[in-house]
Amino acid sequence: MNWVLVGSLLSCLFLGASSALIAPQVIILSMFTSEANVWYGIPEFNVLAQNTTIPGLSPLFPQIHCTADGTICQLTLGEGEINAATSIAALVFSPLTNLTSTYFLIAGIAGVNPKVATIGSVTFARYAVQVALQMEIDAREIPANFSTGYFPQDSTGPGDFPGTFYGTEVFEVNDALRQLAFSAAQMAQLNDTEAAIQLRAQYAASPDFAPANNVSGPSVVLCDTATSDNFWDGALLGEAFENTTKVFTNQTGVYCSTQQEDNATLEALLRGALSGLVDFSRVIVMRTTSDFDRQPPGETALEQVLGPSPGHTPAVANLHLAGVEVVEMIAEGWSATFENGVPPTNYIGDVFGSLGGNPDFGPGSRFGGEPANNA
Ligand SMILES: *[C@@H]1O[C@H](CO)[C@@H](O)[C@H](O)[C@H]1NC(C)=O
Ligand SMILES: *[C@@H]1O[C@H](CO)[C@@H](O)[C@H](O)[C@H]1NC(C)=O
Ligand SMILES: *[C@@H]1O[C@H](CO)[C@@H](O)[C@H](O)[C@H]1NC(C)=O
Ligand SMILES: *[C@@H]1O[C@H](CO)[C@@H](O)[C@H](O)[C@H]1NC(C)=O
Ligand SMILES: *[C@@H]1O[C@H](CO)[C@@H](O)[C@H](O)[C@H]1NC(C)=O
Ligand SMILES: *[C@@H]1O[C@H](CO)[C@@H](O)[C@H](O)[C@H]1NC(C)=O
Ligand SMILES: *[C@@H]1O[C@H](CO)[C@@H](O)[C@H](O)[C@H]1NC(C)=O
Ligand SMILES: *[C@@H]1O[C@H](CO)[C@@H](O)[C@H](O)[C@H]1NC(C)=O
Repeated sequence: MNWVLVGSLLSCLFLGASSALIAPQVIILSMFTSEANVWYGIPEFNVLAQNTTIPGLSPLFPQIHCTADGTICQLTLGEGEINAATSIAALVFSPLTNLTSTYFLIAGIAGVNPKVATIGSVTFARYAVQVALQMEIDAREIPANFSTGYFPQDSTGPGDFPGTFYGTEVFEVNDALRQLAFSAAQMAQLNDTEAAIQLRAQYAASPDFAPANNVSGPSVVLCDTATSDNFWDGALLGEAFENTTKVFTNQTGVYCSTQQEDNATLEALLRGALSGLVDFSRVIVMRTTSDFDRQPPGETALEQVLGPSPGHTPAVANLHLAGVEVVEMIAEGWSATFENGVPPTNYIGDVFGSLGGNPDFGPGSRFGGEPANNA
């Protein structure tokens, strides 16, 4: 028996066990099957080389998928705020993962404000706003001077500043990283379809909707995202949440894409960051746009929400086409740039200031500009 060999075998086994921790450079976060499928069977990399079950993930999507070398992974969270937060918390707090250096690419489809961009576009957000975290009365029962049934918590009407924050109302992510992702995504040749072009043309009648009716087709856009479990549609709710985004971000946020998960994902990542398990400066919020948040002139809100959604095909295709540029930017630039991180120059974190620093929105840090006690 060669004890040196046995010893090195044992240490290999030991190292093997510790290096078996899931510690990718990038995790792509999808919310449902058609968003996930664009990452399978692609020429650039194979995330189906390793499948690992992580306790606490969605029963529909119990496994994380990774490349053979473990540098790129993809996880499907499940749809809506609760699924997103729970899946991310399970991932981040799992003994199977080490995500301290990992970049998180939220890569999902979204609704879009026709005043800001068009369907098929690729957006990168700085702010994520949980717009429906408010009080609500049905529009048929609102007072004559209310413009909408939604008004902030602990306030007396629409447009007021909230008297109470739960902490998830607004997140701000690393703008320097966002700019790098934006530049990388611009190298993609985006997908478009004839049906999407025809829907855009229906917005031509309103000058406000010039970005929706953009004859040059989809593009890569820097604009913010709104989260709600509630899949709203229509001109009035669209405008109400435009207003909410401005109030919650002290006028800096640009209400552009709409989705059902991102503030939940960001809150769970923030909790991971408070526990030293995640670097919150490594989060990218990419949403491609599949449908307009409100009807074109001459159509009702209900016709719009129940009607065809021709932006779905290019939006899903563009998750891969633009997202792969971002993933490759990180993987190829790993040792030169990304391993050590991209230092943020803007505030990053939540409305409480939990990670330290002073938010440029909301009522001010709860922690006097210092990190929270559990940071
Ligand atoms: C991983 O799971 C996918 C299905 O989700 C399957 O196609 C693939 O073969 C699996 N990979 C391995 C290595 O078993
Ligand atoms: C986690 O990864 C970092 C580098 O990314 C490393 O410094 C640290 O030792 C790892 N922790 C564990 C528990 O493996
Ligand atoms: C939700 O997260 C986005 C993305 O960071 C942030 O811009 C927005 O302010 C957040 N909204 C709320 C209500 O937390
Ligand atoms: C609506 O009118 C009531 C009664 O005059 C007033 O107290 C309240 O501030 C008004 N609310 C808004 C949102 O204008
Ligand atoms: C867009 O994607 C669809 C679905 O994958 C495909 O049929 C179509 O040819 C693509 N169009 C362009 C212009 O790439
Ligand atoms: C149309 O898209 C191009 C990029 O493809 C952009 O530069 C231009 O500003 C957009 N026009 C409008 C009205 O949004
Ligand atoms: C949005 O805010 C503007 C300006 O305060 C107001 O005129 C408009 O009625 C509001 N819209 C909705 C739907 O709340
Ligand atoms: C945001 O606006 C509120 C209400 O006007 C104000 O109290 C708060 O100080 C502002 N926050 C920042 C960071 O400017």
